[in-house]
Amino acid sequence: MSGKLTVVVGPMYSGKTSTLLSMIEIYTLGKKRIKVFKPVIDDRYSSDHVVSHSGQMAEAINVYDSSEIKEIVSKEKGKLDAIFIDEINFFDENLLRIVEEIIFSGVDVFCVGLDLSYKHRPFAVTANLMAAADEVIKKKAVCHICGEYNATVTHRISGPTDSEIDIGGMEKYIAVCRDCYKKLNAKD
Ligand code: ADP
Ligand code: TMP
Ligand code: MG
Repeated sequence: MSGKLTVVVGPMYSGKTSTLLSMIEIYTLGKKRIKVFKPVIDDRYSSDHVVSHSGQMAEAINVYDSSEIKEIVSKEKGKLDAIFIDEINFFDENLLRIVEEIIFSGVDVFCVGLDLSYKHRPFAVTANLMAAADEVIKKKAVCHICGEYNATVTHRISGPTDSEIDIGGMEKYIAVCRDCYKKLNAKD
């Protein structure tokens, strides 16, 4: 039987990584055979752990691109129940095809990442995985400006480049609601 694809999205600080860690704990308690992956690019807290903003963590394999996930999972053929991938927004678009192959081989896949950049543009790799998912979970955060629990987007406070790939945390990004985002980004 095929595995199931779950995709968890939302702005920064919305609990995406925390949700991934809860699922990892559930599979671990059930003695399931799992592997956790994260992209090499994001080494904010740790290079070999998935770490949430509240400090919870789980060991993870650092990979450069989606083909490395394929390679590692192929070597474990028939020996895995689930894989978990954090920060899918940093992966190449081949991730969709590779995840679909893994699901067809009977392995559950949990993917977590940003749906929108600070420019309010979808990350294509996340959008594609959402389209193929069995279940999509949209998380929200507390709006840094108005304090309501309705932040669905991320606002960049400062940044040297125009790039939509820009690693950082609280010094650079805040989670905001749609209305506060509009006010913050209004052109005079
Ligand atoms: P994500 O992976 O979506 O960025 P994490 O799971 O790493 O989120 O972190 C969630 C944690 O971030 C919360 O449990 C809380 O402790 C902290 N946090 C910081 N700022 C906020 C905010 N504005 N709204 C909600 N949680 C926040
Ligand atoms: P987080 O969702 O787990 O908080 O991590 C998001 C990471 O993505 C963080 O390193 C900041 C980075 N980022 C971008 O590269 N581009 C963006 O547009 C946004 C919003 C975040
Ligand atoms: Mg995270």
